[in-house]
Amino acid sequence: MGNTIVIGMHWGDEGKGKLVDILAEEHDAIVRFNGGGNAGHTVVADGIKYVLHQIPSGILRNKLCVIGNQTAVDAVELVKEIGDLIKQEIHVSPENLAISHLANLTLGYHNALDRASGGEIGTTVRGIGPTYADRKSRGGLIFNDLFDIDKLKKKVQENTEFTNYVLNYYKDKVSFEIKPLDFSEVFAGLLNARERILPFICKDIGSLILKHDGSLLFEGAQGTLLDNDLGSYPFATSSNTTIGGAYVGGGVKINFDRIIGLLKAYTTRVGKGPFPSEQDNETGARLQERGGEFGATTGRARRCGWLDLFAAKYSVRVNGIGEISLSKLDILDEEEEIKICSGY
Ligand code: IMP
Ligand code: MG
Repeated sequence: MGNTIVIGMHWGDEGKGKLVDILAEEHDAIVRFNGGGNAGHTVVADGIKYVLHQIPSGILRNKLCVIGNQTAVDAVELVKEIGDLIKQEIHVSPENLAISHLANLTLGYHNALDRASGGEIGTTVRGIGPTYADRKSRGGLIFNDLFDIDKLKKKVQENTEFTNYVLNYYKDKVSFEIKPLDFSEVFAGLLNARERILPFICKDIGSLILKHDGSLLFEGAQGTLLDNDLGSYPFATSSNTTIGGAYVGGGVKINFDRIIGLLKAYTTRVGKGPFPSEQDNETGARLQERGGEFGATTGRARRCGWLDLFAAKYSVRVNGIGEISLSKLDILDEEEEIKICSGY
């Protein structure tokens, strides 16, 4: 079967969930290597709709799913996601889901900070930026810290207090009310989730992944142009969405037999930032309506425009894309004229 990686070639929402669901069938293990609850993969399988945020969609096919290093995972939300899948009669247990002990913990204070500070970027308000900021400044918590309650408590208390200090700065800068966070509430939520999550934490996902070498599927979240280092910074997410992120996320060197880029027949973008082929007019509105371009995570309307091949070419270069999967061609069925952006 070989090792496969799937990467979005623009700003996400190219239809990765669907392709990964199809490819999962042919692979033994699926690895999510970046991002967290900011992603939303909608998969309709056998007529039932599943919305996944942090868990790879391979879970629907009962494949081994790994949430890798470099991810930002909200443990409380993850417990909910696991619970929802189980309610939908999907098997989720430590047998088919492993979370790297190096994954970054997103907590309530990250969300609060994102809400206060993320407006200029138009974030998904899932605490992503603040989680990675903590990671980079080495003040964050990782899943391994869930094993040491005393350290956990001390850090969560410190971080909550610090966040309250920063939130105070935003008080008169935003149009909504900012209330200070209560440490005991933040910690109580985490403690509840902790019990449920501990069995899923894996201290050596590298070995787990290598066990399935030759039948691995790496599932990228977001898209190339949202990469923190190589995308349209600062209008980007905070992880590495590109192939480099996969090596960090898996923690081992993988030889990919297939590097598949996901492209939509037209281009969309959620949130703020440059979008050269955007059609902020009737055409864009039509594409949005026909394509159902509303976010799976936030419900926000996606900005729409013509297919940006100039950016796609950049994505091919960054990721070494060897194959392209083109989605939603049928949305253009009734267009009299189809335009393609070839350069700027
Ligand atoms: P954040 O990742 O929530 O910090 O958001 C940063 C930027 O990335 C915003 O413009 C978001 O709209 C965008 N973004 C984050 N995740 C996704 C996604 O899964 N699909 C599309 N856009 C995303
Ligand atoms: Mg999405």
